[in-house]
Amino acid sequence: MPAPASFDAIILGAGGAGLMCAATAAQRGRKVLVLDHAPEPGRKILISGGGRCNFTNIGAAPDRYLSANPHFARSALARYTPHDFLELVAKHRIAWHEKTLGQLFCDGSARQIVAMLLGECAGATIRCDAPIRDIDHDGTRFRVTAGEGVAEAPALVIATGGPSIPKLGATGFAYELAKRFGLKLVEPRPALVPLTLGADETLFRSLSGVATPVEARAGGAAFREAALFTHKGMSGPAILQVSSYWRHGQAVAIDFLTQARPGWLRDAKRQRPRAKLPAILGEQLPARLADALAERIGLAAELGNAPDKALEAAERRLADWAFTPNGTEGFAKAEVTVGGISTAELSQQTMEARKVPGLFAIGEAVDVTGWLGGYNFQWAWASGVAAGQAL
Ligand code: FDA
Repeated sequence: MPAPASFDAIILGAGGAGLMCAATAAQRGRKVLVLDHAPEPGRKILISGGGRCNFTNIGAAPDRYLSANPHFARSALARYTPHDFLELVAKHRIAWHEKTLGQLFCDGSARQIVAMLLGECAGATIRCDAPIRDIDHDGTRFRVTAGEGVAEAPALVIATGGPSIPKLGATGFAYELAKRFGLKLVEPRPALVPLTLGADETLFRSLSGVATPVEARAGGAAFREAALFTHKGMSGPAILQVSSYWRHGQAVAIDFLTQARPGWLRDAKRQRPRAKLPAILGEQLPARLADALAERIGLAAELGNAPDKALEAAERRLADWAFTPNGTEGFAKAEVTVGGISTAELSQQTMEARKVPGLFAIGEAVDVTGWLGGYNFQWAWASGVAAGQAL
C-alpha cells in the first residue's frame, strides 16, 4: 500500500470558507489539500444571489450575527472586513454593485467569485468527487481516507458547512465529526427560511403571490423589508430574517403600515367620512391584502359611522398583527443553519478547537449565522482567513 500523501493541513469542504482558508494558508507557503464530495467547488456560491452572489455586506458587524456567544465573531470579522474582500474582487477585475441595504453583488456572475477563489488557491491541491471515508487521529496527525486516496497532516479544518439544502450536497457531517472529537454543538435549526401556516390562518393562505413592505417582529428582532405571501405561508426578506430568531410556538407580529402616524384612521374618518376601510387600506396596500385585512378586522361601515375606539383598535391591529406559524419549510429550503459547532469549543482568533490541537472549524459549520444580505459569505471569508493564518 502506498504511503499516505503528507500535507501541512487538510481542509474538508471546498465552499467559501474552505477555499478562503486554503488560499490564505497556501499563500503562506503551507502545503494544503482540500477535499469535497461534490463534483465541483463552491456550489452554494454559484447559486447564491440569484446567480450573482451577494458576496458581502458593507454593514457587516458582529451585531448582524446570531450565536450563543455574540462576541465570538468579533475578532475574525475585524481582521478580515468587507473592504478586504473588495480589494480581492478589484484585483480580479470583477465588477460589482450595491443592490440595497449594503448588499454587494457581482454585475456578471457568481462564477467569477468561484474562479477568483480558485485562482487564489493556485498553490493548494483541490480534490472534488472525493467522499470522505475515514478519519483517524493519533493525537498529533490526522489521517483522512477520501475517494481512493489517503492523506495525512498535523492540522484538519472542518469546513463542510451546515445541512441547509441537501440537494446541493449539504450534510450534517461537520456535526458528526465535531461530536467524534468531543466538541459540543448548539442545536442546529433551519434559518433564513419561509414560515408555514396552518389551516386556521386562512386569511394569509388565501393571499399567495401578494408582496408588501412590512416590519416583521419575532424573538426580540425586527426587520423592515418586503414580506411575500406564499401558498404554504409567508416568505420574502422580512420573514426570512425573523425566521432565524423565531422558535416553534412563538408568535410573529407584522406591522403592515410602517409609515402610518398614530391616529391616522381617526383623521381619515374626519376627512372622508363616507370612505370604507378596504378603500382606505387599498391606497397603501395591495388590493387583495387590503380587502382581506379589512374583512378580518370586521369594520364594514363607512368610517364616519365607526366609533373612534373601533378605529383605534383597527390601527393597533394593523400595526401589530400577530399570528403563530406552525413551522418552517425546513432544511430543504433554508438558506443557512442557525447553531452548529459551539463557539465555546473554539479560539476566536484562530478557530482552533481548544481541546483538540490541530483541529479547526470555520464557516457555516460553526454556531455563527448572519442576517440575509451577504453577511454569511463575509463570515465564511473572515473565519477562513482566521484559520488560514494559523495553519
Ligand atoms: P458551504 O456549504 O458553502 O460549503 C461546504 C462544502 O462542504 C460544500 O462544498 C459541500 O459539498 C462540502 N461537504 C459537505 N458535506 C461533506 C462531506 N460529508 N464530505 C465532503 N464534503 C462535504 N450567503 C450570502 O452571504 N450571500 C448570498 O447571496 C447567499 N445566497 C444563498 C443562496 C442559497 C440558495 C443558499 C442555500 C445559501 C446562500 N447563502 C448566501 C449562504 C451561504 O451560501 C453559506 O453561508 C456559505 O456558503 C457557507 O460557506 P461554507 O464554506 O461554510 O459552507
